Order: sequence, then structure tokens, then C-alpha cells
Amino acid sequence: MNIIRAILSLYWQLIMFGINNLMHGLSGALAGQNAIVPIVVGAGALMIAFAIPGAILGLLGQALPVILPIVILCLIVGITWKLISDQRGGKDLKTSIKETTAKIWKLFQFSQWKLPLGQPKEKVFWDPQDLWTAVSAKEISAPIGIQDDGNYAVLVLGDEVPHALLAGRSRSGKSNLLHVIIHGLAHRYSPDELEFYLMDYKDGVEFNSYGGNKVSGIHGLPHARLVAAASESDTEYGITVLEHLQQEMLRRNKLFTNSGVKNIEGYCQQRGLLPRILVVIDEFQVLFQTGEMITARVNALLSDLLSKAGSTGIHILLATQSLRALLGVSGFAAVRAKIMGRIALAASSREDSEFILESGNHAAAELKVEGKTRFGILNSDNGQPTANIQFLIPFAAPEDCAGHQAYFAGQAAGKPKKTKVFSGARLPQLPTPAWFTGTQRDTSQVILGEELNFESAMFSFEWKRDTGNNLLIVGYDEVIRNGLLRSLAFSATKHFTRIVYFNANRSFTSLGFSDPSIVVKRFDWDGDIADIVADLKTKKTLLIVDSLENAKVFSPPNPYGPKSTPPSPAELFVQFLEEAPQHGSHVVAFAANWKRLENQCRDYFRFFDLRIGFNLDEMCAGALAGTPTGMFKGLNNSTKAVFSDLQGNEQMLFRPFVV
Ligand SMILES: Nc1ncnc2c1ncn2[C@@H]1O[C@H](COP(=O)(O)OP(=O)(O)O)[C@@H](O)[C@H]1O
Ligand SMILES: [Mg+2]
Repeated sequence: MNIIRAILSLYWQLIMFGINNLMHGLSGALAGQNAIVPIVVGAGALMIAFAIPGAILGLLGQALPVILPIVILCLIVGITWKLISDQRGGKDLKTSIKETTAKIWKLFQFSQWKLPLGQPKEKVFWDPQDLWTAVSAKEISAPIGIQDDGNYAVLVLGDEVPHALLAGRSRSGKSNLLHVIIHGLAHRYSPDELEFYLMDYKDGVEFNSYGGNKVSGIHGLPHARLVAAASESDTEYGITVLEHLQQEMLRRNKLFTNSGVKNIEGYCQQRGLLPRILVVIDEFQVLFQTGEMITARVNALLSDLLSKAGSTGIHILLATQSLRALLGVSGFAAVRAKIMGRIALAASSREDSEFILESGNHAAAELKVEGKTRFGILNSDNGQPTANIQFLIPFAAPEDCAGHQAYFAGQAAGKPKKTKVFSGARLPQLPTPAWFTGTQRDTSQVILGEELNFESAMFSFEWKRDTGNNLLIVGYDEVIRNGLLRSLAFSATKHFTRIVYFNANRSFTSLGFSDPSIVVKRFDWDGDIADIVADLKTKKTLLIVDSLENAKVFSPPNPYGPKSTPPSPAELFVQFLEEAPQHGSHVVAFAANWKRLENQCRDYFRFFDLRIGFNLDEMCAGALAGTPTGMFKGLNNSTKAVFSDLQGNEQMLFRPFVV
């Protein structure tokens, strides 16, 4: 059954993909753009979509004399078998026939927007008539389950209950309920009325489909502003999203003051549309469990948002399976007290139920989890027992959700996509050399990746003619090292007359240029360094030294010892490090092993005001970046790097390009 649904859903997506592209192309063409690609792709997809039934029918037509009798025979045998076994089991014939026909009928039903519920009776959750008809000025609401009396249980977020906490033990159905909530709201409110910020801190797969995927043709949710797949090592990123939301809250408050209104409702009445925002953070406890500095920041930001963001139309829904783990975290109790809305799914104990709801409220511990049936408690009064509403939770089947999203995508066709997708585990792809030398750019700009924050803007720095303007890069990870090496080289072609590369391990890592006119000089030691220093004033040179900690020939000379004649390579290297930046030349040195580098090359450090570190422990990262220890927890995960400018006293995390 599921396979048939999945195939039909795929087929439906193919048609929508065709229509989307065609519409997109046509609207582009009308606007005078070159829209041939989407038109051809769209028309192609539609042709394939329409050809499929024809082909199947043709094949079937030929095979029909064989297939039809087999199908009929199977049906007869199946039905007889079921009736006989029902009779043996003591069922009466009438019920048995009724059940069997219902089963057969179900085979032919597909793609209905009802969430299948075991019991009591099926209710429609995504009624086509309701699609994008609701107005969010006052509040947002959606049915999320069915109460014992058969009425819907409705989640309402507005002035009275601006935020909610969802908790329940593992497999109690939290992720499913989040899908029910997101789809329920997205069905009632158009993307102009409501936007989502979806962050998942556990393995990060649950919300992926909302981000869409061009390759596999998944559309994503047009309401989604952010879909983030994060993990423990992405807590700094989570903070930047909270900071972005805080800025949005301040922006909105200013807007309200200027318009002389109190809140979003007043603003919408007077000025028109301003979308509400729902921020969903699944497994949010991770944000409270990665070190004191992060926890303190998260606490401060969340407290501020929970207290003041509701009236600006920003709502927060926090979900977790381990509230217990947060019991001891300082400041969390105050955060929890600010959340009026509580949704409790099955809890493991009476204490756990009390922690989600309120002391004395054990309702969540009494919820049953029977087979595929899940219940929850909805409470809009800080968990007070008198406000409990028990409800049965519908099941948001993945194929129903996919169909629903495809439908949304069809409705939103032609509108610009506004979803940012963050995937903590995947670093951005290195662009082509041509991209780096794009005409708009200042040639001294070095682009290395993306900033690690909500905007994910390009991360870059500029070469300056200041003493000490050389770059030291330390970390053990081939992929990141190669990405940085190429980003530096690709950014260098316009600014420098030559790139000179030396690897102390005597291996030449390709810098990745396919253009033969770009000369990368391999630097083969002794004699060469003298030439390079001799040309210092006339040739702008980027000197890349790889594996500096292994470069015996570069072992720093004794600054107080007598100078050798002719000067030793190390002395020449010091001269270059010291004088090059004033003439527009610079050194980039790579090292994999911080400890060895510190032992061997400490005397060079003063020539490197620019530092980059990755895959380093807290101590090494702190020492390299010149900051207190503890600032760069989690830098050892190879999902980010830190840039530090000692002169400007500026540190910044970024996501380096990788090949
Ligand atoms: N309302 C529901 N009706 C039927 N099955 C459900 C329901 N909610 C969850 N399930 C099933 O229970 C399992 C666990 O659900 P999930 O939402 O992943 O739990 P959690 O996020 O709390 O660990 C899944 O296999 C899901 O299919
Ligand atoms: Mg889950």
C-alpha cells in the first residue's frame, strides 16, 4: 500500500515539478529573461509524466489476456481465504464481508488529506477548503489532535500563550507531532501570514524535507525561512539564529513604535501584513549542554525572546526528550517558567510528568502508548492540572506530508524561494577559480568560505600592507587544508604577480588550477629563497609554505647569534616575513601539528598577525587565536574554522570551502 502511495506521490511530484518549471519559465520569459532552460525542463517533465500512463496502458493492453485472469484469480483466492479464516475465528459473515470490501476499497484510495487515525473515527486535518484562508494578525492556530469527546484539540499561539514546550520520552511521538503542527499551520496560513524557522539538534534528518532538494525533486515548504540540520558542534550557529531573531524582534518593536501601535495585531490592522514567525527547535536541550559560555548566552537570548517576542509575532516551540537532563542547568527553571504552553506526551515517571507540566500534574505519566496509537496532554496554563486536555495524535505519514508539500509548492510557484538551508555536517563546496576572480571584487580580498551565522554571508579578509600581515593556518584535516589552500590560491591570481609554493614534506599538493597561464612556481629550496627575497620589491608574491613545522631548513635562526654570509635560508625567510607585507607580498604558512610548531617555530609567530585554526582542541585553538581557553569548544569537529586577527583583535568562526 505504502509503495503504491509513494509511487503516486512521486508521479504527482513529477507533474508539479513540470508545472512549476514551466510557470517559472513562462513568467521569466514574460519578464524578458532568458528562460529557455526551465521551459524545456518543465515541458520535458510534463511530456514524460503524460507518456508514462500511455506506455503502461500499451504494455498492459498487450499483456492483459495473461494479467487479468491472474489478478482476478488472486482476488478470488484472497477474498475466499479471508472469509474462511474469519469464519474459523468466529466472526459473523456480514462484518467479515464489510471489512473485506473496506480493505479492497482502501487499496484504491490514495493521496487523501486525512491523517489515518486508528480511532475513534477519521477526521479531516487538512481540509482543502481551509487552504491558506486563515489570517494570522491576532494569533495562529491549528488542530493537532482529537479530544475524547470527538472535538479537535487546537494549538493556539498568540498574546495569551505565545510559546510552547513539547516533551515526552523517546518514541512517544514528538517528531510526528511536530510534523502535524507544522503541516497543520502551513495548511491554514499562507507563507505571507506565517513563516517557520526549523532547527533540529538531533542527527538533523527530521526536518530535511522542509528544505527541499532540487536534485531529488523534493519541494520543501514555501513558508520555511530556515531549515537547519544541526548537532552538538553547531551550538554557536544556534546562537546566531537566536541573535537574528532578537534583531528581528527589535526591528518589529521599532516599527510598532513608529506606527504608534502596541503589537503585531495593531500593526496589521493599521499597516497591513506582517507575517508571524514560528521557531521550532527539536532537541533544544543540546543548546544547554555544551559548556558554560554557550549555556549562559543561550539562556540570556531565550529569556529575552520568551519574555518579549510574543507580542511582535515571534513564537517559540521547544521540543525535547530529556527535560530531566536540564534540571540541574542553572537558569533553565526560569526559562521553563516563561513558557505558558505545554504539550506533554508519554512520560516515563510521575516526576517527569511534573517537570513537563507542573508539580502535582501526573497526567503525562498515565498516557498509554499502545502499538501505533499516541496520546498527548495539551495545557495552556503553565501546566496547571485543571487545564489538561487529553488528545489523540494523528499520524503524519511521510508520503502524505510529501504530497501536501508538493501541493504547497504548486500554490507558491513563481514566487522567489526564501528558505535558507543549514547543514552543520556539510561544509560549503569550493567554487570555481572564475568565481573567485569575479569582476566586482577587490583584488586584495581573500574569500575562504561562509560566515557561521544565520545570514551565511561570504567569509573573507583582505591583504593589507601592514607589518605582520602574514597568515598562519594550523589544523589537522586534509579536506579543510586543501579547501583553504585552493581558496587562497584562487583568490590570489589577480592580486599577486606570482604564487610560490613550497612543501617541507617535499610533496606538491596541486593548487587546482586548470588554466595553464597561471604560473605557480614550485619552490625547491636553497637557491630559490634568495631569488624570491631579491625580487621582493618588484614582484608581488604570495609565498605558501606547507608543513612549516617540518621545515628543518626554516628552523628559526638565533636572533642574537652572528649572521651567516651568505645569509642562511632561515635568515632569508625571516627577512621576507618581516619586509614582504609593506611591498604587497605575503606569507601563508600551514602546519598540521600545533604542539610541534610551537616547539620548533615559536620565534616566527610574531610575524603572523592573521591566524586560522581548525580541528584543534580548546587549548591549542585558544593559544593560536590569542583568546582565553574555553572560547572555542567544539572546534575539534572539523565542521568549522576560526579566523583571528591579532592586530584588529577580532575573532570569527567560519565554514571553510572544501573540494
Ligand atoms: N500519532 C501517531 N500515530 C501512529 N504512530 C505514531 C504516532 N506518533 C508516532 N508514531 C510512531 O512512533 C514512532 C516514534 O515516533 P517519533 O515521532 O519518532 O517519536 P519521538 O520523536 O518522540 O522519538 C514512529 O515510528 C512513528 O511512526
Ligand atoms: Mg524525535
